Amino acid sequence: MKRISISASKKYDVLIGRGLFEELGARAAEALRSRRVVVVSDSNVAPLYLERALARLRGAGFAADSYVFPAGEASKCGQTYLSLLNFLAEKQLTRADALVALGGGVVGDLTGFAAATYLRGVACVQVPTTLLACVDSSVGGKTAIDLPAGKNLVGAFYQPDLVLCDTQLLESLPPQVFSDGCAEVIKYGMLGSAELLDRLLGAPAGEQLEYVAAKCVEMKRDVVEGDEFDTGRRQLLNLGHTFAHSIEAASGYAVPHGRAVAMGMRLITRAAVEKGFCPPKCLEVLEALLEKHGLPLHTDMDAESLARGALSDKKRAGGTLTLAVPCGYGESRLHPVPVEALTDWARAGLMP
Ligand code: GLY
Repeated sequence: MKRISISASKKYDVLIGRGLFEELGARAAEALRSRRVVVVSDSNVAPLYLERALARLRGAGFAADSYVFPAGEASKCGQTYLSLLNFLAEKQLTRADALVALGGGVVGDLTGFAAATYLRGVACVQVPTTLLACVDSSVGGKTAIDLPAGKNLVGAFYQPDLVLCDTQLLESLPPQVFSDGCAEVIKYGMLGSAELLDRLLGAPAGEQLEYVAAKCVEMKRDVVEGDEFDTGRRQLLNLGHTFAHSIEAASGYAVPHGRAVAMGMRLITRAAVEKGFCPPKCLEVLEALLEKHGLPLHTDMDAESLARGALSDKKRAGGTLTLAVPCGYGESRLHPVPVEALTDWARAGLMP
């Protein structure tokens, strides 16, 4: 097992290992002061793992209830959030008690936001069941729900008390869900690790899961410890995300996040090559890795629509938006652009 300790506004451990789910009760008991939890999950994950999670928690002395909502991005909304809060109140969950998020990014973000706000904050354990949640969304304390106007527009920075990632759960993911997570893994290589790019060129993420998960979480730890509240370097973690959010929103969230990130990364990297920010080799490597991991390269959206969608990006400050732009092999930098320049960037990114 690998233990990665994160020191942000809260200190907590990310535990990564094969078979760790069996230890959920004991590990939660070490991290939490109360013995009362509500496990939150969705209709995809609950049939697979909820009973086992409840049994492990009860076996360790927890009184455990559960709340399950319909799977999908559409559930990451105000209505599900309020229903969950009402459930917690009905169950008389107190400030000393905790939530356990059992699922992928939607479950983690929604549960994390409920934990951040219910009674002004209760403890939270993240148990990611997708690669995407394991390497990115469960770590670092970004919690949110969506608004009709855009993704993650309401949220809080709220660190969990424990992240427990069992890589065995990731091995049985449907291939497309697994490859969505690979987009975030490739992102970490592109934004800051030549070593990770080399390793992925050698063997796909699925063949080196524990290395990949630990490497990405260590990189995220370094970024979050330096910029927890996303005012600087943390924005690098949004490589590819500015246009990805346009692609997701325009599809009504039919395009999954990871696939949109793949297209968004290809777009920004192509634009970076065109504008002389980065050598063409970076684009060749990115395209090879996306293809190797079953991810798409191209969006059929036009430059104007991509730019329009990017205007609701949370990183926009007035008339300026900060893009994360690849500038070398395993290296990216932040580049503020006026919003009027976004169409030009998107056009350059759409080039073949
Ligand atoms: N997923 C981007 C971040 O945590 O900052």
